[in-house]
Amino acid sequence: MSVSVFISEDQIKQRIKALAAQINQDFKGQELTVITVLNGSFMFSADLVREIKDIPIIMEFISASSYGSETQSSGEVKLEINFQSDLKDKNVLIVEDIVDTGLTLNKLMHILKIYKPKTVKLASLISKPANTVHFVSNIDYLGFEIEDKFVVGYGLDFAGQYRHLPYIGVYEPKK
Ligand code: PRP
Repeated sequence: MSVSVFISEDQIKQRIKALAAQINQDFKGQELTVITVLNGSFMFSADLVREIKDIPIIMEFISASSYGSETQSSGEVKLEINFQSDLKDKNVLIVEDIVDTGLTLNKLMHILKIYKPKTVKLASLISKPANTVHFVSNIDYLGFEIEDKFVVGYGLDFAGQYRHLPYIGVYEPKK
């Protein structure tokens, strides 16, 4: 197997700066609650919030995991939610590494309604629209739209590996 660079570290940095500038502008004078969807988005979220310098942020974390084979979602997702703050009337920004089938975000958006936030916006580093079968509202802050490739790195894994890579790579199994 091998991993080839698909989106470089520098490309990611530049894109995150642009997304953060937009977020700084959109939420000027307001507070923001950022929900990092673990595990995959730990790196993107950490880099994104460090560029959101102009507005107060509360960080929340949830865990989401899909079952299935290593490269395909099973259609089931398990969410572990234990918010430390009250989301009622808050501006919420969900931060994902990737929107693939859309299942995780679809389920999360439904559940979030219970908490009665004022607004909910989405940020995702990657979107694969050709794969998205579950309804997901517009991704307000999108890093890169890509075709259907199996990508790893920068938080994304294959069987638990490669999350630490500073770039997005394409995973190519042994031929
Ligand atoms: C990945 C990714 C998203 C989700 C996207 O998480 O981090 O949360 O899949 O896929 P979907 O749009 O088909 O739902 P995964 O369940 O693999 O867990 P991980 O974040 O721990 O890698």
